[in-house]
Amino acid sequence: MNVDITKIDQIVEKYKDKDDVPYISILQDINDEYRYLPEEALHRVSKKMEVPMSHLYSLATFYKCFSLVPRGDHEIQVCMGTACHVRGASRILEKLTRDLQVRPGQTSENGKFSLDTVNCVGACAQGPLVVFDGKYVGKLTLNKIEKLLGGNHEKDKKTS
Ligand code: FES
Repeated sequence: MNVDITKIDQIVEKYKDKDDVPYISILQDINDEYRYLPEEALHRVSKKMEVPMSHLYSLATFYKCFSLVPRGDHEIQVCMGTACHVRGASRILEKLTRDLQVRPGQTSENGKFSLDTVNCVGACAQGPLVVFDGKYVGKLTLNKIEKLLGGNHEKDKKTS
């Protein structure tokens, strides 16, 4: 991934004169731009703001909304809360792990899907449930997963 340093500088400029520098906002803007936090971008922020890389990494690793590795085109979060768990969330996660050939926290080789787990998202009656690109997909069955993935992940895996 090529990082546009000018873009990073623009983000830093937006916040640098604030009294209490909002590093989280800077990281959020970068994460929104690239859908993860490229190391090169963090180095630029560190240099421009004269803040240690260790501080930026501690924020980047503490908040789950940030990623230090490239994310897929689609984000899938499997709810592993108690209600979803008793309704078969483990089987859903197993199938996604197998079909996409990724573990939670990883992105599929074709760059299409990132898989994660979350705890209860407050829609227990809909379990088992996944959050797909921010939308809740409830009462999920193993058969519905193919549809959810668009039915093309197998083809994509072979052509990538
Ligand atoms: S346990 Fe999954 S939404 Fe509550």
